[in-house]
Amino acid sequence: MENAVRPTFSLRPANADDIPALVSLEESIQVAPWTPSHFQAELEKPFSHLWLLTDDETDSLIAGYIVFWDLGEGTHILNVGVGLEYRGQGYGKLLVRAAIRDAIARNQSKIFLEVRKSNLPAVALYQGLGFDICQIRKHFYSNGDDAYVMQYRGTPLDSDEIE
Ligand SMILES: CC(C)(COP(=O)(O)OP(=O)(O)OC[C@H]1O[C@@H](n2cnc3c(N)ncnc32)[C@H](O)[C@@H]1OP(=O)(O)O)[C@@H](O)C(=O)NCCC(=O)NCCS
Repeated sequence: MENAVRPTFSLRPANADDIPALVSLEESIQVAPWTPSHFQAELEKPFSHLWLLTDDETDSLIAGYIVFWDLGEGTHILNVGVGLEYRGQGYGKLLVRAAIRDAIARNQSKIFLEVRKSNLPAVALYQGLGFDICQIRKHFYSNGDDAYVMQYRGTPLDSDEIE
């Protein structure tokens, strides 16, 4: 049997045509998934960046996405997700690093996010990239879950090699 060729993925900004595929990915991976109107609203905010990792061959398979805001005084990462079949291959790291690099290019040193305290994979991802837990927000999420506020401490970034 021939070995299947693994698709390669590249980053690009999302557009309105991507919303149905994004919502379907979001619904398969998030505890409280964003709706089409959440994604549409992000596309309309001038300070919001919604970036996708799509396959180089068809540009239609979405392995993951990230949403972050350029707030002038800092960068707020709001959402990041990787499809179940693409987990554990470095795509989450690649997406968060892309947001960090973009912030650094804008001379922003404050990069922060909230993450569910119980979301151990995501907390480990952010800690591995140089984020520290700086605060706990009790009952931050609509189901009562607590959030960690995490802030980037400025660790130099490694390369974006995919395992
Ligand atoms: C969190 C998430 C984005 C990680 O994506 P990923 O592509 O699998 O992550 P990577 O392969 O880049 O792994 C990066 C690091 O994350 C951590 N990590 C990833 N999966 C993990 C798991 N199941 N358990 C513990 N740590 C994990 C590890 O520290 C890993 O580094 P390592 O490979 O050096 O050990 C993915 O699990 C996801 O989409 N989860 C659902 C959505 C979500 O919770 N988003 C974050 C909050 S908004």
